[in-house]
Amino acid sequence: MSPIKHVAIIMDGNGRWGLKKRKSRNFGHRAGLSTVEKILEVTIKKKIKYLTLFAFSTENWKRPKKEIIFLFNLLEEFLINKIDNLKKNNIKLKIIGNKKVFPKKLIKILDKSENMTRMNKKLQINLALNYGSKDELINAFKKIHKKKLLINKKNIDKNLYTSDCPNPDILIRTGDTKRLSNFLLWQIAYAEIFFVNKLWPDFTKNNYTLILNKFLKIKRNFGSI
Ligand code: FPP
Repeated sequence: MSPIKHVAIIMDGNGRWGLKKRKSRNFGHRAGLSTVEKILEVTIKKKIKYLTLFAFSTENWKRPKKEIIFLFNLLEEFLINKIDNLKKNNIKLKIIGNKKVFPKKLIKILDKSENMTRMNKKLQINLALNYGSKDELINAFKKIHKKKLLINKKNIDKNLYTSDCPNPDILIRTGDTKRLSNFLLWQIAYAEIFFVNKLWPDFTKNNYTLILNKFLKIKRNFGSI
């Protein structure tokens, strides 16, 4: 088993990449999907157990409708083409975020994909969709209150979408932007953060491997000396 248990990624820069290539932002999103596949291969090879990918935030609804629809279609296409592969490779897909608001057809595919892979054990991909960390925390507090439990760290952990995962060891953000964008704010309290200046479609297997290797050389104190 790898000492790296959980990697979380903010895959930023697709839109700018598409425009830089004198094409559309959506062209960049499609290229971003190829990077997802490459990063998946390395994650499996390195025997990392959890990979959380930020694919659509609660704030992304502010984008043009055409781009939102493109992203949903791309996700559908990805799941339709790849779900058998994920299943065969013992990979579990879990959606984190509020998927109730998505188009019915997409919800059906998401539910089916989660169901088909729910017993898988090699790698769990948490796909963050309509995800926002502040909403997640408010929901957790509401659940704790409803169950008449104490507000403490353990109960908060247990009522987040990520209740079944260890906290991320590593957070990577591509796209040359140094912010957290409402992503896993509770869970990354002790994560090592890597900001990468490359746009997501340009992020390579080698870039990813270098980060994983760099992480292994860091002495993590968790507050001690
Ligand atoms: C951020 O780039 C990226 C997104 C909001 C979508 C992420 C989607 C993918 C990587 C492809 C689809 C993935 C799956 C798993 C189906 P941005 O558009 O904010 O880029 P910008 O900062 O250049 O505008």
